[in-house]
Amino acid sequence: MGATVEVDALTKSFGRQNIWKNVALTLPPGEISALLGPSGTGKSVFLKTVIGLIRPERGSVHVDGVDTVSCSERELQEVRKRFGVLFQDGALFGSLNLYDNIAFPLREHTRKTETEIRRIVQDKMELVGLGGEGAKVPGQISGGMRKRAGLARALVLEPEIILVDEPDSGLDPVRTSYLAQTFIDLNAELDMTILIVTHNIELARRLPDNLGMLFNRELVMFGPREVMLTSEEPVVEQFLNGRRIGPIGMSEEKDDATAAREAELIHDDNEEDVRGLVPQMRPTRGLPARSGEERRSRRVLASLHELPARVRAEILAAAPPEEAARWRAINATVAGLGGMP
Ligand SMILES: Nc1ncnc2c1ncn2[C@@H]1O[C@H](COP(=O)(O)OP(=O)(O)O)[C@@H](O)[C@H]1O
Ligand SMILES: [Mg+2]
Repeated sequence: MGATVEVDALTKSFGRQNIWKNVALTLPPGEISALLGPSGTGKSVFLKTVIGLIRPERGSVHVDGVDTVSCSERELQEVRKRFGVLFQDGALFGSLNLYDNIAFPLREHTRKTETEIRRIVQDKMELVGLGGEGAKVPGQISGGMRKRAGLARALVLEPEIILVDEPDSGLDPVRTSYLAQTFIDLNAELDMTILIVTHNIELARRLPDNLGMLFNRELVMFGPREVMLTSEEPVVEQFLNGRRIGPIGMSEEKDDATAAREAELIHDDNEEDVRGLVPQMRPTRGLPARSGEERRSRRVLASLHELPARVRAEILAAAPPEEAARWRAINATVAGLGGMP
């Protein structure tokens, strides 16, 4: 199973520019989480801080007990081996072919023989759907394939945690869906912890188990997908619907007066509300069920009584009928004991 990442009270500024403050969240092991946020809210800075490439002023990031903020350089080197990172541009070496790009971390960080390396590289290329493309150089292939190559390279050291920066950037919606399916399938096969940073709404609604959002230098919320996708928090609602009305402005957050004025001016008739639960993507037929998804469903259902009634109703409506009946019964018992609001 993948590692747990516990972020607490994290604060980062560059000079006098505060990027975000007091960010706290836990990436549950083996689950897929996504962090949303408008451009420039510090999502990439967050990923780099988690792996210790950027030093925050305050806070901690524990990876199974080791704090990447305060640990020694040597410990950091060790902890980094547990991460696979897929940067926004794929970060491939333009002069190397895909095979050599993907083999690079193995040649750099292990003493494996070329025969062993060949087996691993071919295996990962198969996994991400790049089988047989090893001889091509990055300049010859599409953006989607470059992402896949970057992903294969992130996988060769068998990471427990995968961090992905905007997997959809530069991809059309169909390629984005294929790539999202690849993450679901990888998670089903390898049970690794995954954090994806994105501003793609479709990806956010269909892929992750847990969702969070950065806005206005804070983590607005982080939790099970059902809570975020049904949230009535104005900034979340606006973002998930891609609306102009709301606290998010053209280039930054609006002040309250501007937001109120716009709400009067913008005709909202054609801004459709897509909020609400949609079914989550499932592993491709023939693959095992995702154990992270099962653990998470149990966790959410067990804490159903702590959620707002609206969210509870949506979760029960979306759950398989026999599961829903079982949880309605449990909740009725809890309510009988005075536990339900
Ligand atoms: N190394 C750096 N030095 C100074 N400022 C930086 C550095 N890296 C990022 N920033 C600033 O931090 C802010 C957030 O950047 P980023 O994390 O790239 O946003 P996002 O990924 O959400 O679009 C931006 O204003 C950016 O200019
Ligand atoms: Mg970014």
